[in-house]
Amino acid sequence: MTKLTNIEQVQARIDAYLISKLDNLPINDEKLHAAMRYGLLIGGKRMRPYLAYITGEALNAKQSDIDGVAAALECIHAYSLLHDDLPAMDDDDLRRGQPTCHKAFDEATAILAGDSLQTLAFDIIANHPFSADIAAKRIELLRLLVNASGYQGMCGGQALDLAATGKAISLQELETLHSLKTGALLEASVMMAAQCSTIASDNDKKQLAHFAKLIGLAYQVRDDIIDITSTEEELGKPAGSDLEANKSTYPALLGLAGAQEKADNLYQQALQALATLPYNTQNLSDFATFIINRKH
Ligand code: IPE
Ligand code: IPE
Ligand code: MG
Ligand code: MG
Ligand code: MG
Repeated sequence: MTKLTNIEQVQARIDAYLISKLDNLPINDEKLHAAMRYGLLIGGKRMRPYLAYITGEALNAKQSDIDGVAAALECIHAYSLLHDDLPAMDDDDLRRGQPTCHKAFDEATAILAGDSLQTLAFDIIANHPFSADIAAKRIELLRLLVNASGYQGMCGGQALDLAATGKAISLQELETLHSLKTGALLEASVMMAAQCSTIASDNDKKQLAHFAKLIGLAYQVRDDIIDITSTEEELGKPAGSDLEANKSTYPALLGLAGAQEKADNLYQQALQALATLPYNTQNLSDFATFIINRKH
């Protein structure tokens, strides 16, 4: 099987899957369908799919099984961004270098497009033609996705983020917020891919979960840093919006150097977690390196 070792190949593969999924939906409402396409297909680094494919590759999973997991994860992520940008949440006008969905369409359509992308994720897990071994684990895959997305995961983290806006919180509280808001879905990207492997032991999965938690947190620490240090052009979204909105962030709590130190520390721990695994984890460690260096 051809290896998917670079992000462009993953982007092409996952985009083809998502396009065909959208093309196969009946068009009951053209505007809603167009907004879903806009939210899902205009840009995006496809980090979660990438993480799922390279985890799957390290653990000898079938790419055709990872396709379903990766597409579902990206649908949840896209939905979370449509809602995150809404006036009631971060009220941002720019995403991926383009007007946010509610600016390009309207608020009601962006809300419904988000809702529809969320349920599309569950449609995918329910209906993807997984190979027989993995099809038997559909409920386990659903459980991982639900826990990462909902109250116990991303949505819960978003609520903590809103509640912490404009007020000082402790480092521990910030870590919980970040782990849920962004970490949970990145962790699910690794753990759902691990479910598609028939060789990963329980201990391997434990180490992978630990790795995923660390890089998930590092990802959001870096997101907070680049909100301050990158330009709007680099980010494709407004720079400095956390400061402007008085958000609780790592740089706000620790200063910029302290936040960078925190990211580096998480990175080193993540590499240590990988070192215990009896597989070729080069792509996973490169991914961790990418995360802590990314500028957008
Ligand atoms: C941005 O996510 C929001 C966070 C969860 C930090 P990404 O940085 O993955 O955004 P895209 O998908 O590449 O636009
Ligand atoms: C968004 O976090 C996290 C989710 C959408 C779950 P942010 O609000 O920090 O993301 P950006 O900076 O708008 O991309
Ligand atoms: Mg937000
Ligand atoms: Mg935001
Ligand atoms: Mg941010």
